[in-house]
Amino acid sequence: MNLAIVGSGYVGLVTSVGLAANGHHVTCVDRDHSRVSLINHGICPLYEPGLDSLLQTLTKEKRSLIAVEDYNEITDSEVIFVCVGTFSESTNKTDFTNIIDAASQIGRVLQRAPDYRLVVIKSTVIPGTTEEIIIPTLEKYSSKKAGREFGVAVNPEFLQEGSAIQYSQSPDRVIIGEHDQKAGDTLERLCHELSSCPVLRTNMRTAEMIKYATNAFLATKISFINEIGNLCKNLGIDVYEVVKGMGCDPRIGDKFLNAGAGFGGSCLPKDLAELVLKAHQMGYEAQLLRSVLKVNDNQALRLVEIAKKRLGSLEHRVIAVLGLAFKPNTDDVRAAPALKVIPQLLEEGASVKVYDPVAMRQAKMILPDGVKFCASASDAINDSDGVLIVTEWDEFKDESLYRGKLVIDGRRTLNPEKARQVCRYYEGVCW
Ligand code: UDX
Repeated sequence: MNLAIVGSGYVGLVTSVGLAANGHHVTCVDRDHSRVSLINHGICPLYEPGLDSLLQTLTKEKRSLIAVEDYNEITDSEVIFVCVGTFSESTNKTDFTNIIDAASQIGRVLQRAPDYRLVVIKSTVIPGTTEEIIIPTLEKYSSKKAGREFGVAVNPEFLQEGSAIQYSQSPDRVIIGEHDQKAGDTLERLCHELSSCPVLRTNMRTAEMIKYATNAFLATKISFINEIGNLCKNLGIDVYEVVKGMGCDPRIGDKFLNAGAGFGGSCLPKDLAELVLKAHQMGYEAQLLRSVLKVNDNQALRLVEIAKKRLGSLEHRVIAVLGLAFKPNTDDVRAAPALKVIPQLLEEGASVKVYDPVAMRQAKMILPDGVKFCASASDAINDSDGVLIVTEWDEFKDESLYRGKLVIDGRRTLNPEKARQVCRYYEGVCW
């Protein structure tokens, strides 16, 4: 099939590569000229393990994936996936500009299309958005009726950065929120080609909510275990042992219960905040979800509190921060715990040295002046008065790196027993 993917961020690129690898001809549309050019040269514009080589093969050898800036080039696309961002990093708010722009451009494409086309919304949008904003825009610019002359479906994406390729090849479920049956049937056929995982067909609002509820639940698990971890620490209990015991209960399980510096990234904090705001606008105070965010806001700063307790004042102290990405195997620093920790250290008067295996370039664009970027973990650790581990990259897991140092571990990166033997002092954020 001829398929188009609008928006070449994480979700758009991984979706494009997955579909092209499966034999479809994929056209990526993005208004960012340099991104389009990179993709056409087979160069991945973002760091995601495995994506680079797949992109290279699909663009250069198989020639089944191309990127364009002009929507006129997707007139032949039978299915158009919308994967544009719905959040503004600069205002820290939901921003529908991109999705409305994409919907109006796609509407113009639909107007010229001689036969049925399907528009699939993969962007994360608050429940009701496809019905209330996207479909009216598509209809306005196409002068056609959804469900009759073109189809619409919502198909939320659950991939995790760092393991996105693996997930796209074997997702645990596919959710299809259909506007009309033909749209659902067309998308289900396409999804079945890609994987044999369970497919749940539902209405568009429900599909949109499944995405928010999933991320809200995952965030709740993390804040829950962080709160239990904070309590455990005061009681002299290892929260990781507690999770082993809890996890034996099949109703609970042991996944996503790693206590530490809290959640970051482009989805969990944003989706939760959007849901809380939507609830407020409807006159309902989502107290549990508010608390999840509140626990998370404080969690990363606990690393600084512990460092202060151990070192007294942080004034003129040299502190090494290891890990800037919001989690390992990505260069994404959006809402990363390190971005809360570093300004706080500077505020306390510390000199801050930082290192991350892949996220240095991204971090340089947003970290305040005065931060020293180091060439390696040991470069950052040397001559420091204290080391804060904020992201659990594999290369930080070697205890011998920290010989004689004061280490505060935000991610259970080190084996506490071994760490206690080699470090001058070792403490976990909640163990
Ligand atoms: C998340 C969802 O998992 C995914 O389904 C959705 O499509 C997008 O949002 P992602 O943002 O890639 O994926 O990261 P995820 O692996 O969920 O981790 C989010 C944050 O939670 C990270 O900062 C991570 O370090 C933290 N985390 C995760 C914990 O603190 N403890 C855990 O047990 C798990």
